Amino acid sequence: MKNLDLKSHVRGESIYVDDIPLVQGTLFACVFDSPVAHGKLNGINTADAEASEGVVRVIIAKDIVGENQIGGIIPDEPLLADGEVHFQGQPIAIVVAASEELARKAAKKITADIDPLEPVTDPRVAAANGDLIVPPKKFILGNADKAFLDCEHVFEGKADINGQEHLYIETQGAYALPTETGIKIYSSTQGPTAVQRAVCKVTGMSMHQVEIETQRLGGGFGGKEDQANAWAAICAVACQITKRPVKYALHRMEDMRMTGKRHPYSADYRIGLDRDLKIVAYDVTFYQNAGAACDLSPAVLERTLFHCTNSYYVPNVTATAYSCRTNLPPNTAFRGFGGPQGMFVIESAITHAADKLGVDRSEIQRRNLISEGDEFPYGQLAESDAITTWEQGDAKYEFLRLQQEAHEFNAGSKYLKKGVGIMPVCFGISFTKTPMNQARSLVHVYTDGSVAVSTGAVEMGQGVNTKIAQVAADVFGLSIEQVKVHTTNTLRIANTSPTAASAAADLNGRATEIACETIRDRLFEVAKILAEAESIEQLSFKGGYVWRNGDRTGLDWQTLVMDAHLRRVNLSEHAHYATPGINFDWSTAKGSPFAYHVYGTAVVGVTVDCLRGRYEVDYVKCCHDFGSSMNTAVDYGQIEGGIVQGLGWMTVEEIVYDANGKLRSNALSTYKVPDIYSVPKEIVILPLETDRKNLAIFNSKATGEPPLMYGIGAYFAIREAVKAFNPNAELPFDAPFTPEKVLMSLYPASTC
Ligand code: MTE
Ligand code: HPA
Ligand code: MOS
Repeated sequence: MKNLDLKSHVRGESIYVDDIPLVQGTLFACVFDSPVAHGKLNGINTADAEASEGVVRVIIAKDIVGENQIGGIIPDEPLLADGEVHFQGQPIAIVVAASEELARKAAKKITADIDPLEPVTDPRVAAANGDLIVPPKKFILGNADKAFLDCEHVFEGKADINGQEHLYIETQGAYALPTETGIKIYSSTQGPTAVQRAVCKVTGMSMHQVEIETQRLGGGFGGKEDQANAWAAICAVACQITKRPVKYALHRMEDMRMTGKRHPYSADYRIGLDRDLKIVAYDVTFYQNAGAACDLSPAVLERTLFHCTNSYYVPNVTATAYSCRTNLPPNTAFRGFGGPQGMFVIESAITHAADKLGVDRSEIQRRNLISEGDEFPYGQLAESDAITTWEQGDAKYEFLRLQQEAHEFNAGSKYLKKGVGIMPVCFGISFTKTPMNQARSLVHVYTDGSVAVSTGAVEMGQGVNTKIAQVAADVFGLSIEQVKVHTTNTLRIANTSPTAASAAADLNGRATEIACETIRDRLFEVAKILAEAESIEQLSFKGGYVWRNGDRTGLDWQTLVMDAHLRRVNLSEHAHYATPGINFDWSTAKGSPFAYHVYGTAVVGVTVDCLRGRYEVDYVKCCHDFGSSMNTAVDYGQIEGGIVQGLGWMTVEEIVYDANGKLRSNALSTYKVPDIYSVPKEIVILPLETDRKNLAIFNSKATGEPPLMYGIGAYFAIREAVKAFNPNAELPFDAPFTPEKVLMSLYPASTC
C-alpha cells in the first residue's frame, strides 16, 4: 500500500501553508530579528519602517494584547524581545505590510539600540556559570563508583556531538484569519494544540476561540513540534491588532537563522570492563547546549538519559545531565529527541576501550547486548532483546566477512581505505512524559457509505494518514479509497499531543480502531436482522459486503449503512486511547515509560579517499524489528530516510556558529546536506522475524525515529578507515566526521 499522498505530491496538488488561496485583504508579516547574540535592548527605531511603502503596522513587545510569552515547559521565552536579546535571530519587531516584498523591505529599515553583552555559546561554560535551564537530572542503576574499583579495565574520555538543521522542505509558516468567535490559523505544525496554547497566551483568547488547522507538513522532523508556535503567534498578534488576515511563510535563510536545531552535546564518560569485556560500570555526564530558552530541552535531555546505554545491559550506571543555557537559538526536538546523542557517547566509550585493548569494537558490542528481562537504567525490564537482530543480521550479512573484506582491500590499496561499523539500536516508543500518551479519533460513516476520519495526528511525509486510513478500511472491510483522513483541526480533535515520539500511528491509529469498532458493532446489530444471523459473532465485513459464517451475503455495505441510518443508529464515534501500563516517576527516576522498544542492528561500510579526505558510504545493511509491518512501503521509506538523515548528521552536516553566536552555516551554500551522491550505494533491510505481541497498532512497530541512529555506524566506519591509513591518528570523538576533519586526521599535523 503506497503512501496516499503520492499522487498529489507528484502532481504538485498537495497543499501546504504557502499554497492556501488568500482571502482578500490579506497582509504579510516579516520579523526584524536581533543582529547580536546577547545584549541590553535599549530601544527600537521603527519610524523608517512605518513610513515605508505598503506598511500597515509595526508591532513590538508592548503592543502584544495578551502575554509576551510562548514558553511551553517553562515561561522563559518572550515572543518579541523585551529589555534584552538572548540570541542572534531573536524576533524583536513584526512588520505587517501589503505584500511579502514590502514587508521584508521595511523590516530591513528597522534598527535596534543594543548594548552588547558577552555571549556564551559553549554548554560547559554555561554549566560552570550555573546557568541551567532546569536542575540536573540523574539516572542511577546499581553502584557505579563501587563497581569501577573491581574493573579490570577503566577508560575515560570526552565526546562532542554537533547539532543538525532540520531542513524540512517547507519552511515554518502560518496564516491567521479573524473569525466571528476569535481566530483561525493555518499552521505548519506538528502540534496544533501547542500552537493553540501559544496563540491563546499572546492574544488573551480562550482555547475555544482559537481554531488551528493543519493539512500536512512538507517535513517537520521535530522542528515543528514546538517551534511552529512562534510564527503562528506572530500572525495571530498581527491579525488581532490589524483585524486583517496575516500570513508569514519564512524564507529559507530566515528559518535557518531564527529557529533552533538538534541539540549539540558535550559529554564526559568513564567505562569499566571486566576480563571478559563485559561492561560492568558506566559513568556519563552530558552537557546539553539548550540555547537561549527552554523550549523542549528538558524532555530532550531526559531521552538522552533514557538511551544512554543504547542496546547494552550495564549493571552499574550513573548518568547525569545538564541542560545549559547559551546564547544560541533555542534548540529543539529532532528525530531521535536526544537519544542519538546519548547513544553516540556510549559508542565512543566502547570504541575507546576497543582501541586501547586492541580488540574490534564489535567484540565489546556483541558481548554486552541486552537480553530479555535485563533492567534499563530507568528501571524498565527489557521485554525483548538486542541480540536477535544482531544475530539475524550477522547470519544474513556475515559481519566478520564484511570486516575481513575491508581488511583485505586495505592491505592492497594505498590511498583508498575501507571501514566497517556495526551499530545496534534500541529505542523506546512512547512519550517519556506519560500523560502525553493519549489520542482521540473522530469517525463518521456517511449515508453513501464513505468514511471520514479525523485524528490529532499530523501528516508530515511519514505516512501516518495512510496507516490510519488502513485501520478504518480494515475494521469496516472496505477499500482504502472509501476512507478519507481529513485535516488535523483543534475543533474536531481537542487537546492533542504533538505528532512526535514516533507514536502518532500507534496512538491515533488505536483511537481510530476503537471508534471504528464501536460503529462496526452497531452496524452488526442491524446486519444481524437484515442478514438473518443468529448472533453478531457470525458476522464480518469484507470487500464491501456483510459475511455470515464465512460466506458472503447479498447485503452490501452501502445498503446496510443507509438502513442503519433510517433506524436512527449512530454512524459517528469519537474515541479515546491511552497507552496502558506505562508510568514514570521522576522523584525516583524509575518506571516503565515505554510501551515497547524497537531494536535493530545495522552494518555500515565506507570507503575513504585518503588523498582528498572524501568518503562514500558503500552500504548500510540492517536487521530491523518491525514487529509485523502494516505497510512495508511506508516503513521501508522511513528506514531509508532515517538512515540518510542519520548519516548526514554524523558526516557532512556541520552547524557553525562563530564565537559571537552568529550562524555561519546559514544557507544551503554553507550547510551541506546529503544529496543523491552521498546516499549509500546500497541499503538492505532485513525484517526481524518474530511473532511476539506488542502494543503497536496492528502489531506494527513504530519506524519514525529508530532508523536514524543506524547512521552513527558511519562515524565509526570512517574512523576505522582513517586508522587503516594512519594508525597513529589522534581521533577525538567529535561528530560530525566531515571530509575536512577526515583529511586533517589522515596526515600528521607536521605534514599539513
Ligand atoms: N518522515 C518524514 N517524511 N517527515 C518527517 O517530518 N519526522 C520524523 C519521523 N519521520 C518525519 C518523518 C519524526 S521526528 C517523528 S517523531 C516521526 O516521523 C513522527 O511520526 P510518527 O509518529 O507517525 O512516526
Ligand atoms: N519524544 C518526542 N517528543 C516529545 C517527547 C518525547 O519523548 N516528550 C515530549 N515531547
Ligand atoms: Mo520527533 S523529534 O519526536 O518530532
